[in-house]
Amino acid sequence: MKTFFIETWGCQMNELDSQRLSGGLKLRGYKRVDDERAASLILLNTCSIRDKAEQKVFSRLGELRELKKETAAQIGVCGCLAQQEGQRIIDRAPWVDFVMGPGNVGYLDEILAGEHRVALEFPEDRRYDYDALDRTSATKAWVTIIEGCNKNCTFCIVPTTRGREVSRPFEGVLQEVRAAVATGRVEIELLGQTVNAYRCPQSGRDFGALLSAVAEVEGVNRLRFMTSHPAEVSDSMIVAMRDHANISRYLHLPVQSGSSRVLRRMKRLYSREKYLETIGRIRAAIPEIHFSTDVIVGFPGETDEDFEQTMSLVEEVRFGSMFAFKYSPRPGTPALKIGEPVDDAIASERLTRLFELQERHKRERLESYRGRVVPVLYEGPSRHDPEMLSGRTDDNWVVNFRGDARVPLGSMLGVRIEQAQHHTLRGEAVA
Ligand code: SAH
Ligand code: F3S
Repeated sequence: MKTFFIETWGCQMNELDSQRLSGGLKLRGYKRVDDERAASLILLNTCSIRDKAEQKVFSRLGELRELKKETAAQIGVCGCLAQQEGQRIIDRAPWVDFVMGPGNVGYLDEILAGEHRVALEFPEDRRYDYDALDRTSATKAWVTIIEGCNKNCTFCIVPTTRGREVSRPFEGVLQEVRAAVATGRVEIELLGQTVNAYRCPQSGRDFGALLSAVAEVEGVNRLRFMTSHPAEVSDSMIVAMRDHANISRYLHLPVQSGSSRVLRRMKRLYSREKYLETIGRIRAAIPEIHFSTDVIVGFPGETDEDFEQTMSLVEEVRFGSMFAFKYSPRPGTPALKIGEPVDDAIASERLTRLFELQERHKRERLESYRGRVVPVLYEGPSRHDPEMLSGRTDDNWVVNFRGDARVPLGSMLGVRIEQAQHHTLRGEAVA
């Protein structure tokens, strides 16, 4: 019996690639196992966005070397680190059987047949077989609409690891959405590195048009998308969100820095003022929106003054959620040439201050739900307490609540919020 074990790091695009790999393997007669010791094929689907992610992969490969001596499993390294390091992975860990970049997920047969030990191209036709997707959630489906990235932010490895930007045809996306709905997925999340740069290669229709079309597919109860680039926020996107109640009132809009000087050096294509203006435009149309963001601290040459600008921008926007990281130099990226490294202790201190500020804003937002009855899309039992049910609000907060577990998964329930917890809300379903 051919069996496989797959381990995934990184973002949703990688999670989705793992679902594609897993589905493809099942079609080819493999059975998925949760114990790597029982696997004849082990896949590591890797991330290389920051150095830490990269280090973890190499230490895992060290462990697998020992395992392979016992089980003789075939080992494949996939994902962004595979693309970034290519042959060097095999040089460093010769017990790895193949290395395959994100452009090759649709080419399993060739790879399993041993035709390529190192597969790093981005083929013109990126095969995309959504019928073979092994979706892990019963209520939610991820749907890729655009692959790669053309933005070339100076700190970022993604344009190297994920290739040039390619949008999928409009009709293909809609077909996949309809197929997902037919299998009970009431929630759709559209994915791309810069999802709102979408443009149909055949008809030229933009992201706003696609959002509206997907939102109008019968049976889509909730529509989300990730990640939007601030310079690509168009009026058509805002109008589509405003006019469709089933589009999540949540927008992840990575700012990276509040200093226009740093943003220029990052090549983010917007200034502080432009970002704030974009936030204002969206809020004017959708006042209840929950904004989340990404911030990098300690980018080369970031001064105290630059960092204070980030703090004041965060204070002004009051993001509900934030992912913040210390700058991590990535091989071959333009930011390496800037020099001017920020002292690690200073970067750590900045990160701590930023998190403290952000905690206050998150708390304010979470506390504002107390006593209110909010619609929640029911996803299943709570992860930490099987007695409780779990779901998400329109604006993407996790709610754990008491209620009748017999209601169908994917139902929209009214939940009275009793308590705000660290990252989540707690309450009880009401009739
Ligand atoms: N396409 C998305 C995701 C990019 S990677 C976007 O446009 O935002 C996700 C986040 O990782 C980025 O938003 C950035 O905040 C962070 N990141 C990317 N490269 C980094 C680096 N070299 N060091 C630290 N953080 C980085
Ligand atoms: Fe990276 Fe910038 Fe694209 S952060 S993914 S190069 S928009």
